[in-house]
Amino acid sequence: MQEDRLDTVRGWVQEARHIAVLTGAGVSAESGVPTFRDAQTGYWAQFRAEDMATEEGFRAHPERVWNWYQHRRQLMEGVAPNAGHLALAAFQAAHPGRLTLITQNVDGLHQRAGSTGVLCVHGDLFANRWLDTPRNCCHIDDAVAGSPPHCDRCGNRLRPGVVWFGEMLPLAVFEAAERAAQDCELMLVAGTAGAVYPAAGLARQARAAGARVVVVNPAPSELDDAADAVLRGTSATLLPQLLQA
Ligand code: OAD
Repeated sequence: MQEDRLDTVRGWVQEARHIAVLTGAGVSAESGVPTFRDAQTGYWAQFRAEDMATEEGFRAHPERVWNWYQHRRQLMEGVAPNAGHLALAAFQAAHPGRLTLITQNVDGLHQRAGSTGVLCVHGDLFANRWLDTPRNCCHIDDAVAGSPPHCDRCGNRLRPGVVWFGEMLPLAVFEAAERAAQDCELMLVAGTAGAVYPAAGLARQARAAGARVVVVNPAPSELDDAADAVLRGTSATLLPQLLQA
């Protein structure tokens, strides 16, 4: 049954002139990076998103939140892209301009796998920016070391360059993602629970604009109802099978 579906989707991949791929934390799970919402192992089973992924949480406990992002940065040093990331990058290299990669992940693994033009709609774990509007005295490179590093003169603090709950997504990046969703003939949605908007809405936009939508996930997701086909399995197993040259 799943074999038939896999063959069908492979055919859709071959036919599609433009493919958009929306990835989430599950795509990095097989590299050893925790997801957010998986029971037991997901970050939100351990922490409250309100504490660790909002501006209010950061202002309330800057050291705790900064250290958690530092921990996640350090974790990334010991992990590598997996077969799912590599399959996406190999497809882009073999078919220039045919696949636009949109990711909710901030871990940089798609880029490390060799993917190009990655639309990171939730920012970058490794970037820093000022928490408050910088004054003339705040120069990123002059930030005084600390948890978090800060401006010695005015006390402004650095924060990780990721999108927190309640914040705007980077506008130009999200607009490019919306264009890809509207222009594609096929959207692959891999490794996301589909619970966070507006990113999850990209799959529904693609569907509304006439694209086929395929969900790749070992467990039910909130986007299954928007899919023409749901493939149950992991991204490191299924993406190489779908995207083989
Ligand atoms: P979630 O943690 O919400 O969902 C991960 C999804 O990956 C689940 O549906 C799992 O079933 C699936 N999954 C687990 N292992 C997998 C594997 N090996 N292969 C494929 N799928 C697998 O992560 P996201 O949907 O990415 O936002 O979460 C969206 C956003 O919520 C994140 O970007 C983050 C988070 O809070 C911010 O930090 C702003």
